[in-house]
Amino acid sequence: MTPTIKTNFEIIVASEEQFQVTTYAKMNIAVERGEGTWIWTSEGEKYLDLYGGHAVCATGHSHPRVIEALKAQAEKVLFYSNLVYSDVRAKAAEKLVLIAPDNLTKVFFCNSGTEANENAMRMARMATKREKIITFSGGFHGRTADSISATFLGKYREIGRPNVPHHVCAEFGNIESVRELADSETAAIMLEPIQSMAGVTEAKPEFFRELREICDEFGIMLIFDEVQTGIGRTGNWFFSGSEFADGIEADIITLAKSLGSGVPVGACLVNEKVSESIKMNDLGTTFGGGMLAMAAVSATLEAIEADRMRENIIEIENYLRERLREIESVKSLRGRGGLLGIEFNNNCKPIHENLLGKKIITGTSSNPNVLRLLPPLCVKKKEIDLLIDILAAQ
Ligand SMILES: Cc1ncc(COP(=O)(O)O)c(C=O)c1O
Repeated sequence: MTPTIKTNFEIIVASEEQFQVTTYAKMNIAVERGEGTWIWTSEGEKYLDLYGGHAVCATGHSHPRVIEALKAQAEKVLFYSNLVYSDVRAKAAEKLVLIAPDNLTKVFFCNSGTEANENAMRMARMATKREKIITFSGGFHGRTADSISATFLGKYREIGRPNVPHHVCAEFGNIESVRELADSETAAIMLEPIQSMAGVTEAKPEFFRELREICDEFGIMLIFDEVQTGIGRTGNWFFSGSEFADGIEADIITLAKSLGSGVPVGACLVNEKVSESIKMNDLGTTFGGGMLAMAAVSATLEAIEADRMRENIIEIENYLRERLREIESVKSLRGRGGLLGIEFNNNCKPIHENLLGKKIITGTSSNPNVLRLLPPLCVKKKEIDLLIDILAAQ
């Protein structure tokens, strides 16, 4: 019998499956290289990435400016912790605070979205000396103990048992449901201002204004989980303070995903009241604020600004809105900028699979009819045309 020769891809799959704990259902590709909106697989095939490496690669894959900064930093020093000062950390912190809404004057760096949310909730509890946290149906905040307990979406809370106490759930977009829960025992109201995983669900600007009013009335901290909406994804640097939030500002913004162009980094941007309540040793993380991550943060912000990516992604959104009118099976386009959900009249799973078969990566959501797009902010109109051509031919 002739021995079967395994492809490169098959060898990679066999090895990952053997040595890694099961996590996500994976696409049938192994990524080897990326450039801009494109990735190349182990088999040399080219895919258009309209999912941005899981909403992370806002500057595109391996942006030259980010690569240059990482190489230069790696040659100097990879890491030292918060026990020392660092010019790279100072620069990243200043850059981030300068683009933040005016009320947010300090940053705490960590390593991921869930860690940013854990620390945001802790800071809100410290600032208010209260424990209760209100979050929303459909929101996703991460998988560590407090964040998963704040996640009232699907089975996450069940996976995260035993849950941290003092978490309660309001209905996203329904201000009356918040009024029923908010009181002088509440530390924070935390929300994804656009609920991505739920299917790119939006609330009206008035909802955010009313949330702000409730928080002001009871002295509650308003936390925007901007792990997805932050760092230019909606066309604004942040959702907080934007017209989509009726101009109101959150007391804390959490960030991760796009912040480091793929180098793991998270952050909490906080106002004076919050920062003043934090004492030495209240917060900490070994890796947060490390030099390599900080070089990635500065380079990411510079790349978005220099390449006018925020302006680009608004043009792309408008273009997509226009072009989707041609597609009969499309009911609506949800979201803003580069956080978009194409709502179809029926279950979009076959569309998602067909696109993947035709080498376009998109995302699903917990709403079966909503296909998610989270492309690099540098995506081009001619790349959107490739998507439209396939949708039109369905
Ligand atoms: C809105 C939001 N918050 C928090 C998280 C958790 O981030 P991480 O996976 O970096 O812990 C995610 C991840 O998908 C997210 O989408």
